[in-house]
Amino acid sequence: MPKLTSLDDLLVHELQDIYHAERQMLRALPDMAKAAASPDLRKAIEGHRRETEGHVERLEQVFKILGTSPSAHPSRSGGMAALLQEAKAIMRGDAEPEVLDAALIAAAQKLAHYEIASYGCLCTYAEMLGYDQVHELLGQNLDEEETTDQKLTALAESVINQEAEDAEDLDAEEARREI
Ligand SMILES: [Fe+2]
Ligand SMILES: [Fe+2]
Repeated sequence: MPKLTSLDDLLVHELQDIYHAERQMLRALPDMAKAAASPDLRKAIEGHRRETEGHVERLEQVFKILGTSPSAHPSRSGGMAALLQEAKAIMRGDAEPEVLDAALIAAAQKLAHYEIASYGCLCTYAEMLGYDQVHELLGQNLDEEETTDQKLTALAESVINQEAEDAEDLDAEEARREI
């Protein structure tokens, strides 16, 4: 990692990380959508994949405004790679579909929270540096991530966690019958 000597350096460093994180997510979200049993969850993940394309485009605009490019730095976000690894392990594992959905929501919320932390910091830096247009663009990405997070919470509470509990009740009932 090159030496960071100013808030401008840190801004660009964090932008590189979130840019590559967004691109890594773009590749992973279709598999997560496919793995979802609940049509509502699948739709939510597919919708967020489309939003993620917009996030990448806004970040490319930001790089242009700042007169820098995303490709000059490492091509992967280590933090995001670890979270996506965890999501893949969930999809590969053996789980009841309803429980898998609950686990997918948890994984998707961890991804969103990574982004919320990044965009939150980036917005603060852009504001402190007086980069109004950059602040505006990053704020739009932050807003969409926060809305996604809320949507996922609502899905978890209303449908999927309930279904997971029902599946557990059913298993318990079957186990009782076998005794
Ligand atoms: Fe995003
Ligand atoms: Fe996201």
